Amino acid sequence: MRYVIERMTMADIPRVIEIEKLAYSSPWPPSAYRKELQENRYAHYIVVRDTTYRSPSDPAAATEAPRRHFPLSLLSGRVPSPPARSDRTAVVGFAGLWLMIDEAHITTIATHPDHRGRGVGELMLGGLIDIGYEIGARHVTLEVRVSNFVAQNLYRKYGFRDAGIRRRYYSDNHEDALIMWTPQIHDSAYRADFLRLKAALTTRMEADAERADTDSVDARPHPVADSGTGQR
Ligand SMILES: CC(C)(COP(=O)(O)OP(=O)(O)OC[C@H]1O[C@@H](n2cnc3c(N)ncnc32)[C@H](O)[C@@H]1OP(=O)(O)O)[C@@H](O)C(=O)NCCC(=O)NCCS
Repeated sequence: MRYVIERMTMADIPRVIEIEKLAYSSPWPPSAYRKELQENRYAHYIVVRDTTYRSPSDPAAATEAPRRHFPLSLLSGRVPSPPARSDRTAVVGFAGLWLMIDEAHITTIATHPDHRGRGVGELMLGGLIDIGYEIGARHVTLEVRVSNFVAQNLYRKYGFRDAGIRRRYYSDNHEDALIMWTPQIHDSAYRADFLRLKAALTTRMEADAERADTDSVDARPHPVADSGTGQR
């Protein structure tokens, strides 16, 4: 797998909704995403794509070499707009935030279950924090279910700290929300930690991608080296 971050577009919404339904007990409808992308100028949404994915209906699938397209956005701190042609079905995660004055409020973050545990969530959280830097946020904040330890671990890794409880915040089961905040993201200590985490993630994802390339080469049938009578 090779993952890249891009801005979410309208064409991504059907796949985003598929993942949304797998990730959340109260999924947002497509209209909510359409509205966010078209009408909310304080909203910023990203997707992560697996660039090695090929749709079976893509005629290039059989002939084209895998694209060597690693998430340079991780290093540069910019989240690029998508290329003119890209396979929308290759979206494996999405995330978004709203800028409110100088606070970036994360509204959603989800990885397709088949791609969890591979750094996609981290890539997206880093992408959102990068957007926070770009748009002048001083802090990043969010609410998370008190029972959602996986997400809380991800946020703590990126410096979010507990800042209170919103009682019975979730309407489906009246679960409490934990409120989490980063420190000032422009603090030199925070920024240094953030850059270190992004560099470590880049190294890890590069190594995973190289390993996957090697495995796929090893898995190809080896040519018959003897009499030339091997089956065709
Ligand atoms: C939360 C979520 C986005 C994480 O995505 P992911 O792609 O699996 O995350 P990553 O592989 O990047 O993991 C990043 C960190 O998250 C935490 N984490 C991930 N999986 C974990 C697990 N199974 N158990 C404990 N912590 C875990 C770890 O801190 C991990 O860092 P590490 O690799 O150094 O241990 C994903 O689980 C998800 O989509 N959940 C459903 C939607 C959701 O709950 N969103 C949050 C709403 S507030």
